[in-house]
Amino acid sequence: MSAEPMQDTRPFEHVTRDPWWRDAVVYQVYLRSFADGNGDGIGDFPGLRARLPYLAELGVDAVWVTPHYVSGGADGGYDVVDFTAVDPDYGTVEDVRGLVEDAHALGLRVLLDIVPNHTSDQHPWFQRALADPDSPEAARYHFRPANEDGGDEPPNNWQSMFGGPAWSRTPDGRWYLHLFTPQQPDLDWRNPEVVADFDRTLRFWFDLGVDGFRVDVAYGLFKDPAYRDNPGIYSPTLFGHGPEQAMTTNQPEVHDIWRRWRALCDSYAEPRMLVGEVSLADLSEVGRYARPDELHHAFQFRLLKSDWDAASFADTIAEALTAFDAVGAPAPWVLGNHDKARQVTRYGSVRRARAAALLMLALPGSAYLYAGEELGLPEADVPVASRRDPIFFRSGGKRAGRDGCRIPMPWEASRPNAGFSAATPWLPQPAGWPGHAVDRQESDPDSTFTLYQQALMARRLHPALGSGRASVTRHGDVVRVDLVARDGEPGPVTCWVNMGSAPVTVAARTLLLASSPGVPGPVDGRLTLAADTAVWVSR
Ligand code: BGC
Repeated sequence: MSAEPMQDTRPFEHVTRDPWWRDAVVYQVYLRSFADGNGDGIGDFPGLRARLPYLAELGVDAVWVTPHYVSGGADGGYDVVDFTAVDPDYGTVEDVRGLVEDAHALGLRVLLDIVPNHTSDQHPWFQRALADPDSPEAARYHFRPANEDGGDEPPNNWQSMFGGPAWSRTPDGRWYLHLFTPQQPDLDWRNPEVVADFDRTLRFWFDLGVDGFRVDVAYGLFKDPAYRDNPGIYSPTLFGHGPEQAMTTNQPEVHDIWRRWRALCDSYAEPRMLVGEVSLADLSEVGRYARPDELHHAFQFRLLKSDWDAASFADTIAEALTAFDAVGAPAPWVLGNHDKARQVTRYGSVRRARAAALLMLALPGSAYLYAGEELGLPEADVPVASRRDPIFFRSGGKRAGRDGCRIPMPWEASRPNAGFSAATPWLPQPAGWPGHAVDRQESDPDSTFTLYQQALMARRLHPALGSGRASVTRHGDVVRVDLVARDGEPGPVTCWVNMGSAPVTVAARTLLLASSPGVPGPVDGRLTLAADTAVWVSR
């Protein structure tokens, strides 16, 4: 009898595979400015859905969409009226379902943005709370009684992050808390009805297939129960909130909520993921939000807030790696987002922005890209009459606000409004915008788009990039990051960044990728690195 060779009919599977989010590259879409599907000058879900192949071609793993809910329109969608309804400007719940289906078919995941710290003042809860101080809805916010003496002093010294006091008065004289605009009253997370309602919201979107959430103000939510004064005043120039904000940020109870949300995420067969905005200055405090049973990623903004300076970059990277390693979490890296001026303008040139991108994409952990950074978009100078950001208005024009990084995307150079929309875009595009268009860059081997695409491809292929181990050193104005795969194979990669003004010579065997065109390959194990450039090399 001849023995039939046994056939292995098991489906192909990876032997060990980290969860997808550990080293994911996530692309942040500012929904209103990404792509307009219905020709009204406002970006929307059908527009985004049609552009998903672009994101797949770029090579990212997931897309995070800024708030899409029915909103009062006071803070770019971060003032939510209904957490389970889509703003008609953006489409419908069915459009979200379609987006998720199309994204999954392309191998992309979809994260939405949830805003648990506050609602809109137009939210039915707050409207009811205004009408009846004794209602259950009023107990879901922070109301303080009217002053007994009829005076105008707020209950304490808490300040709005956007300027001015964090307290406003209701028509009947009560005070209510808003850490952002008066149109964004803060919820009281010690009220179990608030907790339960957000469970329902999470399930609503998860059941639709959404893969996770970016969590707004995840370092907030709870406030000092005795409403004691803060020791100091928040300054937006700092790396993040510190002890001066001890009464309004980073209260211990907030971690219980992240444990609760993590358990909810893990209850799905395909676990959902959470990335929290944790704007705290102390990185070891940020790390605590990413402990194994809390948020999957905790954003730290030190790198985002670092100037073009080798010491600042090297120290931040080293500190962040230590803080996240201590809890076994991947470090999430961010150079740009919808709250910060674009890196090209902050650093002073597109050359520097490209070098910073190469550095970030080499680091172990996840990387968050903000739509348009892959095109090297600069910060736009928005005419005062077109400004929308409450920061500009609440600071009496002292702070420029965030409109300049929220300009509609340029897609096609020769079409009206650079291909964003047939109608006039909701924020004006500057004159030079078509020059940055996607269709100009896709076919240009030297474009910023091509650099990002090549870097993302190399990151996928080379286990030392994005998911290995890193050690960071600084040599004058040069930052050096040595990267090895976790199993030590294949050989090490080094990322060199020259942040000084003169060329330097560095050790290199093979050039894998350079941030600017024209970097000469190594000769005799040495490579000349011009100012404001970065390279990935093997040694
Ligand atoms: C968001 C901002 C928003 C604020 C209030 C921030 O962290 O990123 O865009 O204005 O939260 O919701």
